[in-house]
Amino acid sequence: MTDDIKVLLKKAETATENAYAPYSGYKVGAALLTATGEIFTGCNVENASYGLTVCAERIAVFNAVSEGFRNFKAIAIFADGEKLPSPCGACRQVLSEFSDNLTVVFANRKTMKETDLKTLLPDTFKI
Ligand code: THU
Repeated sequence: MTDDIKVLLKKAETATENAYAPYSGYKVGAALLTATGEIFTGCNVENASYGLTVCAERIAVFNAVSEGFRNFKAIAIFADGEKLPSPCGACRQVLSEFSDNLTVVFANRKTMKETDLKTLLPDTFKI
């Protein structure tokens, strides 16, 4: 694991502290590394109308894009739970809008897995 990824994972873990997950109890944090070295974080934000829930990954991307950053190198996703997180289909599509080559790392307290967006979302739809 590179130092960049270690830092990113730690930031993702810290981001879980703000997760709002009263319905699932599954707190997730994400940390997104830009091509120029900035890090943006996000956490999942659930809603009583369940379908309005937004995942940690999308919040990290929207935070970065709304601050003017659109080129990303890596994202780390950390879950405070037994089950290892993995970006949902919607998050994969949103990530693919901004990144051709994105390292994706997911972890919980027990396990860590490193892959990339091309593997997670082949034949991406882009305009
Ligand atoms: N969740 C994320 O935030 N990211 C993932 O990678 C997996 C799922 C959230 C959505 C919901 O708040 C909770 O985890 C359970 O699905």
